[in-house]
Amino acid sequence: MNQTLAIIKPHAVASGNAGKIIAHLENSGFSIQAIRLAVLNREKAATFYSVHEGKPFYEELVELMTSGPVIPMVLEADAAVEKLRGVIGATDPAEAAEGTVRNLYAESKGRNAIHASDSDENAQVEIGFFFSPNEC
Ligand code: RTP
Ligand code: MG
Repeated sequence: MNQTLAIIKPHAVASGNAGKIIAHLENSGFSIQAIRLAVLNREKAATFYSVHEGKPFYEELVELMTSGPVIPMVLEADAAVEKLRGVIGATDPAEAAEGTVRNLYAESKGRNAIHASDSDENAQVEIGFFFSPNEC
């Protein structure tokens, strides 16, 4: 078993799809190890997505991620990173396979409902961004 980080993006929380997305993840075989509501300021969102700094969609991405509460969660499964990428589907919902989270809940390539870590190394960094060991 290993872990990955998912974040339900603000527009999906605002539109009332968080519960359905969490159920979808549980029904796909993930166990929730940690979950919370967080409000990102500009600095935090810019840091979290700093790998995309300078790309044409970066400003829009930071704007989106600061537009309301997000729900980060630590998910555990065998090969968790790869498995979650499969369950959420392609970045662009037009290309996301049927039945994936983005196929069901994304509005556009930018407003695509959910983030997932893309490597074991990044998963550990991203988990540490939202969750500290020993916190209650
Ligand atoms: P994520 O990091 O959120 O899990 O998404 P991803 O790996 O599937 O995609 P990535 O290339 O890392 O892009 C990060 C987020 O930026 C937004 N984006 N918009 N309009 C566009 O062309 C575009 N491209 C990327 C999306 O919100 C994407 O999830
Ligand atoms: Mg990514």
